[in-house]
Amino acid sequence: MDNLYSSNRRASAFYVAPMMEITDRYCRNFHRVLSKRAILYTEMITSAAIVHGDRERLLGYENAEHPVVLQLGGSDPIQMAEAAAIGEQFGYDEININVGCPSDRVKSGRFGACLMAEPELVAECVATMRSRVNVPVTVKCRIGIDRDDSFEPFERFVRIVATGGCDTFVVHARKAWLDGLSPKENRNIPPLRYEYVDQIKALYPDKAFILNGGLLSHEQALDSSRSLDGVMMGREVCSNPWLLTQVDHLYYGEEKDQRSRFEIVEQTYPYIESQLGSGVPLGRIVKPMLGLFHAEAGGRLWRRSLSESMWLDGAGLQELQCALDTVRQTADKLASVRP
Ligand SMILES: Cc1cc2nc3c(=O)[nH]c(=O)nc-3n(C[C@H](O)[C@H](O)[C@H](O)COP(=O)(O)O)c2cc1C
Repeated sequence: MDNLYSSNRRASAFYVAPMMEITDRYCRNFHRVLSKRAILYTEMITSAAIVHGDRERLLGYENAEHPVVLQLGGSDPIQMAEAAAIGEQFGYDEININVGCPSDRVKSGRFGACLMAEPELVAECVATMRSRVNVPVTVKCRIGIDRDDSFEPFERFVRIVATGGCDTFVVHARKAWLDGLSPKENRNIPPLRYEYVDQIKALYPDKAFILNGGLLSHEQALDSSRSLDGVMMGREVCSNPWLLTQVDHLYYGEEKDQRSRFEIVEQTYPYIESQLGSGVPLGRIVKPMLGLFHAEAGGRLWRRSLSESMWLDGAGLQELQCALDTVRQTADKLASVRP
């Protein structure tokens, strides 16, 4: 069946990375206004929370967000399969297992990056989950977890996890050092080794490998992933979400997006109004928009004006409109002094 989701998973697919406290439903709705085709991720949600918690709060989302991947944290195959089945019932297009998060909390729960040392358990999770759901079950991992810089442990991980039926690996192409670095340091300090992802693809050409980590532009992403199946960008999309407006053209061959940033903001109004009407504070809805005018005339004023007003009691569309007016005035002023 060739639906939007499967056609999005062609060569050079583009994913927005899962990010805790960032890629919530409000963020994904904004990203969807910027790109119809980018594949979006939830934040990581633990299998225990889904099985025992408030499912609607954890998993609820808007239809417009598709294609969207649910990322799970956990390592109990039965519970992971149960959580995957619940995710499938909610309509998620893919279920992904987090094997890359290095935080101590996650490590003490025996999931995230420490599972790089337990490929047999990850394979069992994949197999058990696949026995319960029809949507793809994929893995997001690192290239290793210790200070040994060799390729072999990564190859072994992929080989064993593939036996569970995983056919797509998203690879954050640096090791996680679990002996003292904070999660933030673990996203910056261990060196990036994109060549390991090329090497693994050459060994397993039938598996899909998505490159992630330190990608700062589409040019770099496309150039670094020539032999691969797609790319994933995280932090750069947060600081410069405008990047997403080029995705449909560059990765999926659609017409160039001609919209202005002003038009994009205005296109978010109906969604924002509906969320405000349900009692969601403006700040939660528009936080992902703070970087929209990144490096543009008036961009700093936009960020300042919006971040000062968006959490005020009763803040609504007028605050957004006001921030937009400040950018427009700055841009007009600049245009009038240009020769
Ligand atoms: C604030 C933040 C939260 C993150 N949360 C998750 C998460 O929930 N699950 C996950 O697999 N990775 C998480 N990551 C890692 C990203 O998905 C990504 O692998 C990493 O940032 C490297 O990609 P980038 O250099 O394009 O940002 C997080 C990263 C950041 C910055």
